[in-house]
Amino acid sequence: MIVVKLVPIADTSRELGGEFYGRLEAGDVLYFERSPIELPREDTEFLLSQRQAGSSYYKNIAYRPAEDRVTGLDPGGDGERMRRILKSYCDQTAGLLSKLLARYSNGWRVDFTSFRPFEEAGRALALHARNDLLHVDAFPTRPTDGDRILRFFTNLNPARPRVWMTAEAFPELAGRYAEEGGIVRLARQRAGPAGRVTAKFARALGLRQFTASPYDAAMHRFHNFLKENTEFQEKAKKARTEFPPGSSWIVFTDMLSHAVLSGQFALEQTFIIPYRAQQRPELAPVKILEKLAGRPLTWRE
Ligand code: SIN
Ligand code: FE
Repeated sequence: MIVVKLVPIADTSRELGGEFYGRLEAGDVLYFERSPIELPREDTEFLLSQRQAGSSYYKNIAYRPAEDRVTGLDPGGDGERMRRILKSYCDQTAGLLSKLLARYSNGWRVDFTSFRPFEEAGRALALHARNDLLHVDAFPTRPTDGDRILRFFTNLNPARPRVWMTAEAFPELAGRYAEEGGIVRLARQRAGPAGRVTAKFARALGLRQFTASPYDAAMHRFHNFLKENTEFQEKAKKARTEFPPGSSWIVFTDMLSHAVLSGQFALEQTFIIPYRAQQRPELAPVKILEKLAGRPLTWRE
């Protein structure tokens, strides 16, 4: 992995050069030593003062822009203030990326904003939910039907870095594991006539968990396969990256395998980017998997 240093960009009003799209799409990380997103000091202090019990059903505190509401905050927390701060982060990152990465904003979906108040080192989570195991992202409850997961992170911690481990990108991992892990078989089966009929009925009956496209089912399986695979976790070619206090970074997290080893207090904004908006759509995981499966894996025409 190459960390692309976008050393303080004085002019954030212009689109980045074409080579940056290429690097992002190949799984590199765009990095800002100092975040271009400014939070008022009192908002940062409010976020840093949050002490969550950590027993919530939700993994993080999230803002859902389409519903304009916050989930995951402990009862008794200042939900209105949290909503306002996360909405502002959401609006600001969307404004910034619609300039810097303008080609992606055409048809993108501004997805959830998250606030991550927990110390990531030693967090007690179920295996498939663990953040400290290498994985590529897949959202079982928000299927993308082949579109891409782009995330903008900010380390709010005033003193400590957010430490990531990264390994190879999706094409290499899929080439090595998609057959062995049963991912290709699952994708083919879901994309076949029986899979399509099942999904159609499930849609009619409102059974969301069975309506995911073959692509989404395969990505979810792949996410779990990587976390379960101790040999991969131990032997993968890994790189450790420290994101210092106050920095921001952008990455396609469905492309680059990653894990967070330590760090506390981060903000993150997710964008769902149409894969057709990519400079190189052939690098999209859906295209890689379709090649391996030999058939279309989305529900779109
Ligand atoms: C993840 O997407 O796996 C977690 C990244 C982070 O919280 O830094
Ligand atoms: Fe992740």
